[in-house]
Amino acid sequence: MSNKKNTSSGFNSSFGAIMAAAGSAVGLGNIWRFPYICGKYGGGAFLIVYFFFVFFIGMVLMMSEFIIGRRTRLTPGRAYSALRPQHPNWRFVGLFGLLTCFLILAIYLIISGWTLGYFWESLTGILSKIPDEGFADHFKFFASLPLRPVIFTVIFLLFCVFVILGGVEKGIERVSKLLMPILVVLLVILCVRSLTLPGASEGVAYLFQADFTKLGSEGVLAALGQALFSLSVGMGVMIVYGSYLPVDDNILKSSMWITLCDLLIAILSGLAIFPAVFACGQTPAEGPGLVYQVLPVVFNSLGTVGRLFSIFFFLLLVLAALTSAISLLEALTAFLHEKGMQRSTAAVLVSSLAILLSVVASFSFGNGILSSFHIAGLSIFELLDKLTGAVLPPVCALLTIIFFGWFMKKEDIRDELSNHGTIKIGWFNVFYYFLARFVAPIALIIVLVTGLL
Ligand code: PHE
Repeated sequence: MSNKKNTSSGFNSSFGAIMAAAGSAVGLGNIWRFPYICGKYGGGAFLIVYFFFVFFIGMVLMMSEFIIGRRTRLTPGRAYSALRPQHPNWRFVGLFGLLTCFLILAIYLIISGWTLGYFWESLTGILSKIPDEGFADHFKFFASLPLRPVIFTVIFLLFCVFVILGGVEKGIERVSKLLMPILVVLLVILCVRSLTLPGASEGVAYLFQADFTKLGSEGVLAALGQALFSLSVGMGVMIVYGSYLPVDDNILKSSMWITLCDLLIAILSGLAIFPAVFACGQTPAEGPGLVYQVLPVVFNSLGTVGRLFSIFFFLLLVLAALTSAISLLEALTAFLHEKGMQRSTAAVLVSSLAILLSVVASFSFGNGILSSFHIAGLSIFELLDKLTGAVLPPVCALLTIIFFGWFMKKEDIRDELSNHGTIKIGWFNVFYYFLARFVAPIALIIVLVTGLL
């Protein structure tokens, strides 16, 4: 079962693998979602809980998924049943994860379409001509147009398909190695500009000052959902990327680098956004309101520099979204490919279905034609957002970690952590195994039960 696959059909180097997995992790979740969730639930108070979840649950899951993937060289579903042939029902955990991937991909496509549209509008100067009070209407108008956002989504998706068809090493790994450093450079430039604006310190305080009264059990569940979403764990993407890992990759070390990179980029994003928002006398809003209505006002108030700032920011968001969407598409494509479908057919099929769902969901947004259609009191867009943000990943993560900690053979885990006995198993590995068996599942159960009730 183990390591049958020739490494040429996987990542070529550990560095490439780290870049690809970090590319999956760093996405809209870091740049758009993290800063406002952090501010909303009490800044520093949220951060403390978030750190705990990232290192004690998220990173544990990343390690577990990598191990499951590399051990079997299979996609979620078959990977579980290969490790536990006597209990084939475990494969449903993998399939459940893939369903979550599909829903996330649909949401991702909508937002990426808007973002690409805004990038285009800042490049062509359309955004800079809109008066401050016009941005809310502009966004509503743009998002409810039947065709325009869809065209941008299709362009975005075509690029993803193109990369996937290039293959794991020549497509995904190569693009990630190129895009991730560009993303970091863009982000650092934005941070420096934002932090040097007069009055920036208020934004820094908003992000870091601890206010425990704003946290509550809702904030704790949000922190867990965000930690899993941001690290792309709990839905099997990292099982697929794990199946591409080189045999000599040190799994725990790579998981740590990816986690640190993801966390750092989330914090830098907050430092790029909030100081500028406060310095320009705006109030931080949530989600789409922040990115498409408040930030353009901030950019416009900064004159010519603001125009550049705006181009850089939307480009940054598009690039971050790209490598994440690629990983989602890859997980689903690899799954169908394993079932015997050609990679190209699989990629096109998944893309078409995802675009269909994303168009339906985007019609339910704002004043769209489906906005009055509600399920459990939520529009389709809101329902998808809620399911993929706070409900499905924690449930899937819990099942994954129980499988890893209690049902997977210890020898298999030891063999993967030590790279077949070529590296020493130190206290750090033992500690992480302990977290996987006891701390992570118990913490997940507590947060899920209290948060969902
Ligand atoms: N981690 C990505 C982000 O933060 C989202 C994602 C989730 C990507 C799950 C792949 C799988 O935006």
